[in-house]
Amino acid sequence: MACFFRRKIAAKLARTLQQSEDVFIPSLTAVSPLKKQQSGADLRLSLSTLRVEGILPSSGDIQLQTENLAAQLKQDSVVEDISTGHAVINFKVNRGLLAEKVLEPFAKGDDDNFGLNSELLNSLPRGTTLVEYSSPNIAKKFHAGHLRSTIIGNFIANLKQSLGNNVIRMNYLGDWGMQFGLLGAGFKQFGCVEKLKDNPLQHLFEVYVKVNKEVEHSEDMKQAARDFFRQLEQHESQAVTLWQQFRELTVKEYQQVYKRLGVHFDIYSGESFHQDQAQEVVQELQRRGLLKVSERGTRVVDLSPEGDMTNVCTLLRSDGTTLYITRDIAAAISRRETHGFDEMIYVTDKSQENHFSQLFQILVTMGHSWAERCQHVSFGLVQGMKTRTGDVVFLEDVLDEARARMLHNMNQTSSKLCVLASKELENPEDTAERVGISALIVQDFKGPLQGDYKFDWDRMLQARGDTGVFLQYTHARLCSLIRRNEGAETGTFNPSLLQEQTSINILQQLLRYDEILHQSSKDLQPRHLVTFLLKLCHFVASAHTELPVAGSPQDVAQVVTSPSCTFLLKALNCTANQNHFIMNQQARLRLFRAARSVLANGMKILGITPVPKM
Ligand code: ARG
Repeated sequence: MACFFRRKIAAKLARTLQQSEDVFIPSLTAVSPLKKQQSGADLRLSLSTLRVEGILPSSGDIQLQTENLAAQLKQDSVVEDISTGHAVINFKVNRGLLAEKVLEPFAKGDDDNFGLNSELLNSLPRGTTLVEYSSPNIAKKFHAGHLRSTIIGNFIANLKQSLGNNVIRMNYLGDWGMQFGLLGAGFKQFGCVEKLKDNPLQHLFEVYVKVNKEVEHSEDMKQAARDFFRQLEQHESQAVTLWQQFRELTVKEYQQVYKRLGVHFDIYSGESFHQDQAQEVVQELQRRGLLKVSERGTRVVDLSPEGDMTNVCTLLRSDGTTLYITRDIAAAISRRETHGFDEMIYVTDKSQENHFSQLFQILVTMGHSWAERCQHVSFGLVQGMKTRTGDVVFLEDVLDEARARMLHNMNQTSSKLCVLASKELENPEDTAERVGISALIVQDFKGPLQGDYKFDWDRMLQARGDTGVFLQYTHARLCSLIRRNEGAETGTFNPSLLQEQTSINILQQLLRYDEILHQSSKDLQPRHLVTFLLKLCHFVASAHTELPVAGSPQDVAQVVTSPSCTFLLKALNCTANQNHFIMNQQARLRLFRAARSVLANGMKILGITPVPKM
């Protein structure tokens, strides 16, 4: 892996500059194959980073410094070539060694952990990470923001877990507030227990829409809603029982839909859990003298640096009831007490940026220094998320639409792109669903999370663009190649046979995997991994055409696809020429297997379930 080469080059630099090896590690990166210099460099030393790190003097001409240093470095059995670029030194490593080191973990059957135990990733702090995501509101619409939160949060949780953290996945439902007064009162008038049991999300939404219309002109309904919510806050058993039923049935149904999406939660928490604690938080703030009374009679915390009430946050309404933020403060404190997390990550759209910045500030003001390790990952808006039948109301609508459209595409396609769904796949719906969901995820993860984007079914489902379909297609194709050669792989292979540019591209790309994960862990943006995997798929596509495995020449193909023939050939001491072909096939197979594993591993971190056929 990259670590091996980074270490070797660092040692070389250490000897030349009389410094310790470690100081050079952060300045050495694996080169992206597309940005390759003519020299075919694999690793690159950045002189500007060395200057920033104080390893080289930051005065003088940087290019001169680069050339001077490069001139002092000698080639050896690991580094074949040293060249310079603008403020960088490029290292090309021995080709046989490149293949050997990159492919080594796969020979040990350690495919799933490829890159994860690298020195670079081991240097990251590890601990307990609580990720809170999805968090829809009971009875309200599940909007595009909730979908984004669900898939982004899942990605962050997967990433943190892969990097060796203990991850707690939490869903914080909007299960409290005045809307439950409306819902409770509304259910008494418009609700139906059977419908609630059959289709809770749908029915609660219907009741909610009806009651909202009703309160526009009915004072009685308004009063009934206020009464119901008061009963709830006072824990009156009838109201609580009904509310509990709403919540339980909702969670049950959500669990089914999340399952389709490949998402799960360890804990279904919610605003309701912290109702009483929120009042305690208010008392605590009062004791600390941090609570002020505003002109409108509300209780506020003054967050303005000058203490002149120019930036206040309301924690209690004038009638003494708590707000969203009050419950969030209580929830954060309780989570820290219960789970002792080292870091906590909240995932919501950017309209809540101010909310979270106030939340963290208040927690710190209260003396909770751990709030400095809380983070809000925010994302932009999605425009135009619609299905054929109209607006999206439930998560299920989006998943059904993705599946239906993908199934249609799979059946339509006349090219060999997909095997005909109905003929070859055991469960075409299931495959269509998985591929459709990958399309959704890749569309969402391609750009910076902060950006807004336009939801586009046709574009995201294209098989040949930079889409989730392309990732799945490449994965399925690699699986099929591996299936066709089942048993043909011998234990050994000659890494120095992988000399073609196409092979080198794949190897160089695999060499970068740990750096990509490292970068992702720093800014929690999925786009690095998406871009990396799409590029890998493009290289694999070229390799499919340029590096036949079970292909031409025909006789070799037959030999290789049949394990008994391979054995026979060996026994008969086949001709050198044929032997060379077989060796080549072995090396290529190994390369394709490695590419498939890394592709699958990366897809899983993104929250995509790779399909073996499509
Ligand atoms: N239920 C909220 C909404 O739909 C999101 C909750 C975010 N998490 C939190 N701890 N405030 O907007």
